Amino acid sequence: MPTSTARTLKGPRRVVRRSARRSPSPHWQFLRGFLKHPVMVGSIIPSSRILIERMLEPVDWENTKLFVEYGPGVGTFTRPILDKMGEGATLIAIDTNPEFIKFLEKSMDDPRLAAVTGSAADVEKIVAEHGFEKADYVLSGIPFSTLPPGIGEDIARATSQVIRPGGAFLVYQFSSKVFDFIEPWFNRIERAFEWINVPPARLFWAHKDGAD
Ligand SMILES: C[S@@+](CC[C@H](N)C(=O)[O-])C[C@H]1O[C@@H](n2cnc3c(N)ncnc32)[C@H](O)[C@@H]1O
Repeated sequence: MPTSTARTLKGPRRVVRRSARRSPSPHWQFLRGFLKHPVMVGSIIPSSRILIERMLEPVDWENTKLFVEYGPGVGTFTRPILDKMGEGATLIAIDTNPEFIKFLEKSMDDPRLAAVTGSAADVEKIVAEHGFEKADYVLSGIPFSTLPPGIGEDIARATSQVIRPGGAFLVYQFSSKVFDFIEPWFNRIERAFEWINVPPARLFWAHKDGAD
C-alpha cells in the first residue's frame, strides 16, 4: 500500500533529522556561538591540537587540585585538561555563553568538571562557591583585546588573586594586548608564538613566585 509505505519511510527520516538537531557537532556549535557573539567569541575555529599541547606543557598535573578554564567554548581544551588531570582534581570551566555551558554539560559526563555560566571577572566568587580558596592554574582563551572597557583589567587582577603562589596563568591570544593587563600582577611572564593555529596565536605563561 503506497500510502502506508510512504508514512513508514517518512517516520525514521524525521527522527534522524530531529536527533541530529539535538546534538550539533562541536564545530557547528562553535560557529553558531561566533555568529551570535562575534566579539565575545573572538575566533571562528577552535584551537589546534598543537596549540593545546604546547600551552599545557608546563603544567604540574600531579600537584594540581583545582584547574580553572576561562572561555571553554565547545570544550577544545576542556577534554585534554580532563584527560591529563588526576582523579581527585577539579576543573571549573567558566563561559559567559550559556549555550556553550549547556553543550559542555551534555557532551562531557565527568564528575570532576564544574561548568559555570558567568564571567571570568567573578572567578574569586565562583572558586569560593565551589569550596576552594585558590587555584593551581588558570587557562584563558577569552579575547582580551575586544573585551568591554575595564573588564580585561578586572579579570587580570582577580586571576592574580585566585592563583596560589607557585601557580600560573596560561593565556593564548591572537593579539599581545593581554600582556599589558597581566604584566603588573605576575612575577615572570614567558612568551611564545604558535603558527599552527587559525589564526596563529600568542602564548603567555604568567607565573606567581613562591610555593604554599
Ligand atoms: C576564542 S573562544 C575560545 C574557545 C576554546 N577555548 C578554544 O580554544 O577553541 C573565546 C571564548 O571566551 C568566552 N568569553 C568571552 N568573554 C568571557 C568572559 N568575560 N568570561 C568567560 N568567558 C568569556 C566566549 O564565550 C568564548 O567561548
